[in-house]
Amino acid sequence: MTALKPELDEARMEEFAGRVCEILNDGAIGYMIFVGHRLRLFDVMSDLGGGGTSAAIAVQAGLSERYVLEWARALTVGGILDYDPLSEIFSLPPERAAMLCRGGAGENLAVFSQHVPMMAAMSDTMLEVFRTGDGIPYGQYPCFHEVMAEDSAMSVVSALFDTILPMTGDTQHRLEQGIDVMDAGCGRGLALMAMAERYPDSRFRGYDLCEEAVEFASAEADRRGLINIFFAVKDLTHLDLEGEFDLITSFDAVHDQKDPADYLKRIFRALRPGGTYLMQDIGGSAKVENNHDFPMAAFLYTISCTHCTPVSRAQGGEGLGTMWGWETAMDMLSDAGFGDIEKRLFDHDPMNVWFVVRR
Ligand SMILES: C[S@@+](CC[C@H](N)C(=O)[O-])C[C@H]1O[C@@H](n2cnc3c(N)ncnc32)[C@H](O)[C@@H]1O
Repeated sequence: MTALKPELDEARMEEFAGRVCEILNDGAIGYMIFVGHRLRLFDVMSDLGGGGTSAAIAVQAGLSERYVLEWARALTVGGILDYDPLSEIFSLPPERAAMLCRGGAGENLAVFSQHVPMMAAMSDTMLEVFRTGDGIPYGQYPCFHEVMAEDSAMSVVSALFDTILPMTGDTQHRLEQGIDVMDAGCGRGLALMAMAERYPDSRFRGYDLCEEAVEFASAEADRRGLINIFFAVKDLTHLDLEGEFDLITSFDAVHDQKDPADYLKRIFRALRPGGTYLMQDIGGSAKVENNHDFPMAAFLYTISCTHCTPVSRAQGGEGLGTMWGWETAMDMLSDAGFGDIEKRLFDHDPMNVWFVVRR
């Protein structure tokens, strides 16, 4: 018996082919945005008053003109740069510069493009773990903590004192008086250092699994002359402290733990009664069908598949993934013992959800 072939709608096939080509084009542009960010080409164009010839951009950036020219051409047909064939000037209009330059008026979205080569660098290992189900330890990802720190500078540090801490009630007043603070999964520790600088009478401890991140944080704290902060390598799976902190923070550091539910129970125990836990994590839903309109959902599921799931599995965890969902987070907070869970969203940080809870 021959299987019936489904009748194909040619128009829908054409439409889908167009979509796939668009995806491939956009993926390539994503990579070129990464190149522009890392080599500061967007910043250079902005410094040049918005653009220049490939030669002028290359000289200013100290780069090879031939490569800069090809980069600029890719971004021109990709709709990122404009080009005037008469003057041979490539330009970056101010509205786009605001979203791609360091210190621009908007959020520097080019920071996220760095995940593209990071994922690509893991390609062979990724294909292997799809077969084995194993994990991949943090240390195997190139530049992970560097990229995370840039992300954190934008989504956390930039809004910490004007937007984020004010939603936690009297925390800023208590920080001024002098309290004990822990950042659990601090990475390079930029947010904790910003607080330590601002509140010299409080005491800050940052813990992270990764030596590279902690070494960076300790060196930077020394460079800034901070004496009220201390960073240490610590596997929080074994955190066993009772009532030592008035404030605990986790900035995007729960979902890729080995066991997020157990981590939250340990955080609860480490807080003093009346203490505050401030938690930022990815704000998607636990249900994929709710995430079609969530900002950069496909990008986040891809980061989940290529990073957050494998790093958790490398620790022996189940790998809840980046899009574990705010519903799961709320359930786990409640199971950990926290009552009165406040959930907040911020315009400056549409990918994340924030929780403020008290012991
Ligand atoms: C997504 S990164 C966020 C880092 C930092 N909070 C930031 O915003 O830049 C998650 C962090 O959790 C840390 N982490 C994961 N599992 C850990 C564990 N078992 N113990 C301590 N830290 C852990 C990782 O090393 C990583 O730095």
